Amino acid sequence: MSDTGLRQAQDKMAAAGVAPTAIDVFTHYYRELEGGATGLIPEETIDPLLDPPRLADVDIDADAAREAFAKTAVIKLNGGLGTSMGMDKAKSLLPVRDGKSFLDLIVEQVQHARATTGAPLPLILMNSFRTQDDSLAALARHDGLAVDGLPLDFLQNQEPKLRTDDLTPVSWPADPTLEWCPPGHGDLYTALLASGVLQRLLDAGFRYASVSNSDNLGAAPNPTIAGWFAASGAPYAAELCRRTAADRKGGHLAVRKSDGRLILRDTAQTPADQMDYFTDEHRHPFFHTNNLWFDLEQIAAALEARGAVLGLPLIRNVKTVDPTDSSSPEVFQIETAMGAAIEVFEGATAIVVGRERFLPVKTTNDLLLIRSDAYDLAEDSTLRLAVEKAPLVELDPKVYKTVGKFEERFAAGAPSLRGAESFTVRGDWTFESGVVATGTAVVDADGAPGTVAAGTTIAG
Ligand code: UTP
Repeated sequence: MSDTGLRQAQDKMAAAGVAPTAIDVFTHYYRELEGGATGLIPEETIDPLLDPPRLADVDIDADAAREAFAKTAVIKLNGGLGTSMGMDKAKSLLPVRDGKSFLDLIVEQVQHARATTGAPLPLILMNSFRTQDDSLAALARHDGLAVDGLPLDFLQNQEPKLRTDDLTPVSWPADPTLEWCPPGHGDLYTALLASGVLQRLLDAGFRYASVSNSDNLGAAPNPTIAGWFAASGAPYAAELCRRTAADRKGGHLAVRKSDGRLILRDTAQTPADQMDYFTDEHRHPFFHTNNLWFDLEQIAAALEARGAVLGLPLIRNVKTVDPTDSSSPEVFQIETAMGAAIEVFEGATAIVVGRERFLPVKTTNDLLLIRSDAYDLAEDSTLRLAVEKAPLVELDPKVYKTVGKFEERFAAGAPSLRGAESFTVRGDWTFESGVVATGTAVVDADGAPGTVAAGTTIAG
């Protein structure tokens, strides 16, 4: 039955013009799905990673750093849709500061690094079919961004969503675009190769890539890390951060007992009854930022040798074909994670960096925080914490989970959070301008729905 499913999926991809390499990669993961793969990594099969090198302890020769930086390209993952914030377009188009979006600030970070170091630093987005048009239009507003001979983006692949009952490609005539999904950011390797961008970068004399999420404004171009990475001779490196008790999500690296390789373990790959180990910041003290460094020559050789099929651990997502309609057919979306490739490249390594390199926006809580005065926008267009510790923001998920509803309620701007340890909102409140939160500020559900008047101080 599922052989038919695979054939149907392959035919559907071929008819849509998906690259043969991407169909081969999909076929590999389809077979794994069919074989019952769940991608789980039990605690007893791994040892914690306890003592990775730290950037703060490394001495980098300034000339070597400059040389490595001059051969570095900046790649931003921009293909996701921010579905957990109810979005169906690129999250990086949302405004963050002074009407500037994530993408605008990323461009400014690159331009600042170019101006201060003289490195050409090409900026290249990995888009998906849903994010490409809008994102390229946004980049077009910036002059002098393109580097000769290199594109501003490449397109990741698309694959059919599969019915969970028989693993055939789902059909959804009401909106056929919903029959497709991007295959997760692990598709980066396939897409870099199949799009020809990997070769074009090498042909243009670039040797290294600094890759990060477009929703992480902390991952600015950094010559010191480039210098460290070049000197390491490694094909691949992951940036890690020290975990705190509050960092309960996000993957961690570990050492696989069977072969001593570094591996990445994400929430979805941890058995449910072992989540205590996963979230224990003493047992697994460093989390994975999804900021990576590649030696493009070594990556190209490894991809070539494997026919692009890296065999990353599969992530099996269960969703409904129309994410906004829970009665629509249930589907599997097969995904892989970019950072899982650490187990594939022999000699791959990791480095601990400062927390300022990790500022992801996964929820509207995160978005409110980076829009607030708890962060300053620095000259290099990175956001710097203006207080010692970022306040904990907890907006009522029933009201503020999706960006649309969030924006309506904070149209007058984020409250001042500089003096707050935490900011909790229960119930449906709309905030006027100049609201100030201090201490452990709570807006209670009593009286909601309602408006918090301009200039109110919420003291906790
Ligand atoms: P996440 O997996 O965190 O997803 O992607 P997300 O975009 O925040 O959205 P949801 O809420 O899970 O849907 C991390 C980064 O990888 C990119 C995203 O754009 C984000 O920058 N990404 C994700 C891709 O480029 N392609 C994908 O297929 C998936």
